Amino acid sequence: MLITNIKQLVLTEKKARTTPLRGAELAKLTVVENAFLLVENQRIVDFGEMANCPLRADKTIDATGRFVLPAWCDSHTHLVFSHSREEEWVNRIKGMSYEEIANLGGGILNSANRLQATSEDQLFEQASERLEEVQKTGTGLIEIKSGYGLTVESELKMLRVIRRLKESSEVEIKATFLGAHSMPMAFRNGNRQGYISLIINEMLPKIADEGLADYVDVFCEKLAFSVEEMEQVLAAGAKYGLRPKVHVNQFNCMGGIAAAMSHGAVSVDHLELVDDADIEVMRNGNTIATLLPSAPFFLQDHTTPARQLLDANVPVALASDYNPGTSPSGRMPFVVSLACIMMKMMPEEAIQAATLNGAFALEAADDFGSIAKGKFANLIVTKPMPSLAYLPYSFGSDIVERVLIKGL
Ligand code: NIG
Ligand code: FE
Repeated sequence: MLITNIKQLVLTEKKARTTPLRGAELAKLTVVENAFLLVENQRIVDFGEMANCPLRADKTIDATGRFVLPAWCDSHTHLVFSHSREEEWVNRIKGMSYEEIANLGGGILNSANRLQATSEDQLFEQASERLEEVQKTGTGLIEIKSGYGLTVESELKMLRVIRRLKESSEVEIKATFLGAHSMPMAFRNGNRQGYISLIINEMLPKIADEGLADYVDVFCEKLAFSVEEMEQVLAAGAKYGLRPKVHVNQFNCMGGIAAAMSHGAVSVDHLELVDDADIEVMRNGNTIATLLPSAPFFLQDHTTPARQLLDANVPVALASDYNPGTSPSGRMPFVVSLACIMMKMMPEEAIQAATLNGAFALEAADDFGSIAKGKFANLIVTKPMPSLAYLPYSFGSDIVERVLIKGL
């Protein structure tokens, strides 16, 4: 399959990088003007200027006026859930905070109650629809978390749904175990350690036994789990080879970033708030800072200090956080727009953070995240547009015309 007359082929690499982009590298985007791209057996086999285009292929797509980009690599979502939560959102419009709703048993516990009462088949149907929807807006690699089960049975149910999605979808999927998402009510009065033990002694061994997770996550926050509780879970996950990708610094700075990094975290996610100590430890590390601009946008709270992180040479990725409480959308083009509008990222930085660095945040950059020979042909073809910056600028419009996953 051959794509011809591409106005601009975006994020090309002569040789695929082995480390995430950081600092000034994120703003340097390599492109080929008036380009072709050749796909064979699901993978990119050649690309370059039209002058060097091979003459024939079984199938040709004419991309005159259009840009071709690598598909989004959405490295943080909670796409398996049971019901939407717009009634909580309406309460927030009236003035309640996310924390107040959570402390009253709403929020994550609300979703957990509903998910516990939903069958695996129903969950699978609903999640498949959401996955198809985000695929249409250009997502080709995605991470999906558990964390709305909060019992042994329901956490396993969620992870089995994710396994079925892996088997049924062309989109590449990574699974993360997030048993430590919220403390169930029954453990809140004096028995927090009881739930941590359940995670460590019951959930993790069964999950490892069935090979259901690629990563382990903890929501480390005042309203969720302490740094010390997170460290117990991460240490237990490490025994089964699960590296951490954690929720930290959404509402409070508590030292969770340094602690997660000491356990070899692949990424630390959210970071709406960061202090000097957080920046110092990330500046010198290889952990990716995954920013989720749709959550603070939807909650209308802190604006993530992306520029501070970029200027401190921290590798930054962007993801959707698709979930019913803080980001009921998995549209990556909108995430990229928000990163530019709200967090002052440059279009080039935001696009690379949402593709190549997202792939690194899932340890999958050998196969995904850029236009490089040998990588999967996961591609976005845009509608005709005047410039690359037009993509984030035209927020809300359906600028993605066509999505190819593994060349199809
Ligand atoms: O990433 N903050 C923790 N988890 C989700 C929200 C979960 C929910 O409200 O259902 C997040 O924002
Ligand atoms: Fe999240």
